Amino acid sequence: MNHSDRFPATGMPDSDWWQTLWPDPEAVLRGLGIDFGVSVLDLCCGDGHFTSTIAHIVGGIGRTMALDLDPEMIKLAQQRAIKDGIPSEAIRWFEGNADDLVKKLPSNPEYVLIANTFHGVPDKQQMARNVFNVLKPGGQFTIVNWHHRSRDDTPVAGEPRGPVTDMRMSPEQVMDEVLPVGFKLHGVIELPPYHYGIVFDKPKVS
Ligand SMILES: C[S@@+](CC[C@H](N)C(=O)[O-])C[C@H]1O[C@@H](n2cnc3c(N)ncnc32)[C@H](O)[C@@H]1O
Repeated sequence: MNHSDRFPATGMPDSDWWQTLWPDPEAVLRGLGIDFGVSVLDLCCGDGHFTSTIAHIVGGIGRTMALDLDPEMIKLAQQRAIKDGIPSEAIRWFEGNADDLVKKLPSNPEYVLIANTFHGVPDKQQMARNVFNVLKPGGQFTIVNWHHRSRDDTPVAGEPRGPVTDMRMSPEQVMDEVLPVGFKLHGVIELPPYHYGIVFDKPKVS
């Protein structure tokens, strides 16, 4: 892995407190509009906390794509998928830099999710543009972020967690990066206790 490619402040959290914070990935993903039959890219999938559940919801062969820079994360995510009983052919895995790989996917997803990572992407508008270009018309781009609150105010298991306060983004700041590339706002969904999901539509005709 080329460490210089890693987006700042995007290390995978320890699974103990991550599980405490996100105990029900299926409810989160369904609330964000992921449903049976939709092809999904889990961009910066980490250890697969959401990936297996995406594959479980959408079904099919290769309908779920998952991408991460870190081979260790991909390995953990693959092990989790096996443990969760997901057929090996259900998920296509991609290892490398999101900025490059998202432009080279073998098929166009209908839904791209980036969870807990967008705050660290240096050129956010360029990432949004790359996602726009790869998405099918009518598709969705969803960004899950920590709320723009002081890190001291977002404790989990007794300790402040999440990205440093200065890197956190409000939904309005995300819109400022994403709307200029052609997306339309679909909605902002609260994901208590500390997160929101912001869903954008790629128009059917752009
Ligand atoms: C905080 S974790 C979030 C994982 C997962 N999305 C979740 O919410 O559970 C961020 C992930 O982004 C990955 N990452 C960081 N920089 C990246 C890059 N340039 N390209 C692809 N993945 C990257 C890290 O390896 C890490 O697994």
